[in-house]
Formats: sequence, C-alpha cells, structure tokens
Amino acid sequence: MREKLARIRAEALEQIHGVNADLEQIKIKYLGKKGELTAVLRGMGELSAEERPIIGQLANEIRTDIEEAINEKAQELQERALDCKLKAEKLDVTMPGKPTPVGHLHPLTKVQRELEDIFIGMGFSIAEGPEVELDYYNFQALNIPVNHPARDTQDTFYITDNILLRSQTSPVQVRTMEHQKPPSRIISRGRVYRSDSLESTLPPLFQQLEGLVVDRVMTMGDLKGTLDVFAKKMFGESTKVRFRPHHFPFTEPSAEVDVSCFVCGGRGCRVCKGEGWIEILGAGMVHPFVLSNCGIDPEVYSGFAFGLGIERIAMKKYGIDDIRLFYENDERFLDQF
Ligand code: PHE
Repeated sequence: MREKLARIRAEALEQIHGVNADLEQIKIKYLGKKGELTAVLRGMGELSAEERPIIGQLANEIRTDIEEAINEKAQELQERALDCKLKAEKLDVTMPGKPTPVGHLHPLTKVQRELEDIFIGMGFSIAEGPEVELDYYNFQALNIPVNHPARDTQDTFYITDNILLRSQTSPVQVRTMEHQKPPSRIISRGRVYRSDSLESTLPPLFQQLEGLVVDRVMTMGDLKGTLDVFAKKMFGESTKVRFRPHHFPFTEPSAEVDVSCFVCGGRGCRVCKGEGWIEILGAGMVHPFVLSNCGIDPEVYSGFAFGLGIERIAMKKYGIDDIRLFYENDERFLDQF
C-alpha cells in the first residue's frame, strides 16, 4: 500500500508539473470521489490496527502535497495567462493622441454674454419675448400708431396686417410692464428683423439688447449713471459717456449715446473715424403714453430705457468692418475669435 501511495504521489506530481491547461482533470483523477487516492483509502479496512493510522497519515500528507502542487500550478498558469494578455494588449502611452476639434462661441454670443453679465451684475434680470410679434406690441403700445412716419425708420417684415417679425426688442418691455408691477429692472435681447432694401449691405436680421428700469422716481440722472457704469465695465475704466439729443417715439426726452473711443482714448483713430467718440446706444425716459398703455400710472412711476445693437459693439471691439461676416459662417472668420 505504501508503494501504491508513493506511486500515486510521484505520478500525480509529474502530471501536474507537465500540464499546460487542464489541471481540473488531474484533480479529479487523483483527489476526486472516484479518484485513485480515494480508492486506496477505501482499501484501508484491510490493514492491521497498527498500520492503519500510519498509512492514513501518509495518505493525508500525499493529498496535501498534491493539493499544494495543484494550487501552485494553478497560480503559475494564471500568471502566465495574464502575461500573455498584457503582451497582446500592450498600449503605447507615449504615442501622440488624435486631436479632437473643439468648437467655440460665435463672436456675437461672446459679446452678448459679456453684456448680459454686466447688466445682471447691476441687478437686471433677463426677460424673453416672441420674435413673431403683434403690431400692437412692436409699434402701437410703443407710441407708434398705424401710419406714423416713425415706422419708416424700421423697415418691417409683415406676416399679416397685424403680425410681424419684431423690428426691435422693445415689445418685450411692453409685455413685461403689462405683467409685472414696478419696480422692474430688465434686459431683453435677441434677434430683430428689418428688411431695409435688398441691395443693402445690412443683413435682414441683427441682435439687439435693451434695458428698462421702472420705479417711483427715475430720472435722467439714473439713466446716465447706469450707462456710465456700463460703459466703464464694457470698454474700460477711463471711458467717458456723451449724450446727444435725439428722438424716439417711445422715450421723452431721448438721446443717442456715445462712448469715448476705447482704441485711441478720444484722440481720433480709424475705429472712431477720427471722431474720438463711438455711437453705441439709443436711450431715454420712457414716454408717459407707453407707461399708461401698459397700465402703469405715469404720475406715480417713471422709467428709463436704452437699446443697442450687439453687432455694432462686436464690430468695434474686434475691428470687424463688414456686418455680414457675422452671418456667413465662414470658418476662416469665426476661427479668429
Ligand atoms: N428700440 C430702439 C431702436 O431699435 C432702441 C431704443 C431702445 C431706444 C430703448 C431708446 C430706448 O431703435
């Protein structure tokens, strides 16, 4: 029996060392319920009482030896498999990567966001309104009745007699005042449409940003102070603001507003066409008729409003001389910003 056990041990170990894959098969062959070692142990009943524990111990030792050998081999095989896998899947982390083209914001979006940030920082909130608008909101409520000559200054795309593409962002002010009791402090911005003449160098749409403040005692001084802070934040601390009398039907008094040229500081250069000043805004005190059209008592409340073209500011800021470039989507142009 000793010999038998010794043979099983030797055979098993040899097979384990030699194996490349099927360890499980060997395990079953020697240690399984019907395995060779188990068969020997079953025959132990025939042994004498003295021999039984000795053989039993020997058999257990052999079982442990075989188990250990199997475990060692299993580990070795596993490591080898991992090695193979690592070699096969080798990654060269020093290889140059493939560049991913990254987009960026359109120059008009950049300027719009910059303007928004400034006014939000001054306590304004953003109001939205439709681009397809009623004549009433775009004109009548703003003190521009049907057949009023001021309509000629904003060549309008009409959809029906009553419905049009908004020619300014001012209708958003009217809608806001209708719904919101003063005080209000809002900006509205977005696309506005003007047909001009087809041969003109102006695109049929552009972007406006407008502000409106209504409260109990708003004065021209508040308007000037607000635009002064805005101009300094937008164009630099040394920027000066100049008001020139003007006329808008929806404000009284009205003004056109210039800032000192942020390129030459006012001495005169190509950007300001030698003037030293750049016109950037229309502004004024909200006309009492407009307030009462919106259900606000002009005896109690007053307000100021201002409006600017975002393209104009972007053109001056980036030195762009043709407004159409913003809308041609030529990457050679857009990539510069
Ligand atoms: N909506 C005017 C325009 O497009 C600009 C403006 C707004 C002027 C507010 C004064 C006050 O011409």
